[in-house]
Amino acid sequence: MAVVAIIGAGVIGVSWARLFGAAGWEVRISDPRPDLKAVADRDLGGLPVVLGDDLAAAVDGADFVQEAGPERIEVKKHMFAVLSAHTRDDVVLASSSSSLLPSAIAEGSPAADRIVIGHPFNPPELMPLVEVVPGPGTSPRTVERAVEVYRSLGKLPVRLKKEIPGFVGNRLQKVFDDQCTYLVQQGVIDVADLDHLVRASLGLRWATIGPFQSGTLGGGPGGMRHLVTHVGSQMTFEIGEPDPARMEEVLDAVESAYGTGEDAYERLVDLRDGRTRAVLEPLGWPQPPAAGPSGR
Ligand SMILES: NC(=O)c1ccc[n+]([C@@H]2O[C@H](COP(=O)([O-])OP(=O)(O)OC[C@H]3O[C@@H](n4cnc5c(N)ncnc54)[C@H](O)[C@@H]3O)[C@@H](O)[C@H]2O)c1
Repeated sequence: MAVVAIIGAGVIGVSWARLFGAAGWEVRISDPRPDLKAVADRDLGGLPVVLGDDLAAAVDGADFVQEAGPERIEVKKHMFAVLSAHTRDDVVLASSSSSLLPSAIAEGSPAADRIVIGHPFNPPELMPLVEVVPGPGTSPRTVERAVEVYRSLGKLPVRLKKEIPGFVGNRLQKVFDDQCTYLVQQGVIDVADLDHLVRASLGLRWATIGPFQSGTLGGGPGGMRHLVTHVGSQMTFEIGEPDPARMEEVLDAVESAYGTGEDAYERLVDLRDGRTRAVLEPLGWPQPPAAGPSGR
């Protein structure tokens, strides 16, 4: 049985573990958190995982490594130094990082050719995308192997041609989220109505066709060329930027709309996952693994 070592048992690592486990991999999970056993019992119940906080031991004999530790470059660099030293030279070392450049993680590493970003969207077990981002030192073989593994898990790996901070998904998300914050700060709309507006329009549209496909349709038979010269030509307004000094008021508004803490988190996870599961199959995505013991 192929062995995957998952490094980090937080939000992303636990979801990767369920996904790999459901696909028949032997899962080892490494994290120094003192409640690792309780997390595994609650969120990975039934999955025969090997726990432990010894990184070197966790990756010894592993066939694939999926790192999901803290998003801090000095921590990642340290972890990848251990991973490089204790894995075979054919083992892909994939980082789940949301934005750190693979070249920064691999800087000075003798295993730079094996280091690649395999960036999922949360939760990895449900969201089809994995962004595969090579650094300048990543070998084509590493990219191909990562793509092959993610595909075998039922994911859609999308390979970027080169690295860029935030990759593609989070660059798009940042632009969009900044504008959401700006509109709330300007008093144009409140938090819940903005979420309703997006769900009822762009969210639904982008779950079915992408922005360029949508642009093609928006122009009618004249296609995107017509849209750009017609409606698009009037979109010349300044879009503004959120004020970082007024972030607190937006966070207060979000917390008052949705609550905080364990109960609110569980309720929102259930809502999100239930809806996501309901649309995956009709939209043509493979069936994700069954919900875990905590409903996730
Ligand atoms: N949360 C998201 O929406 C999301 C989405 C995609 C990618 N990511 C990326 O995934 C990674 C993990 O994010 P998260 O949200 O799961 O974070 P998290 O804070 O929930 O989990 C990180 C885990 O790493 C553990 N850890 C700390 N030091 C460690 C070490 N030396 N060895 C092993 N584990 C260690 C922590 O104890 C913690 O359990 C980050 O790189 C993040 O950018 C996050």
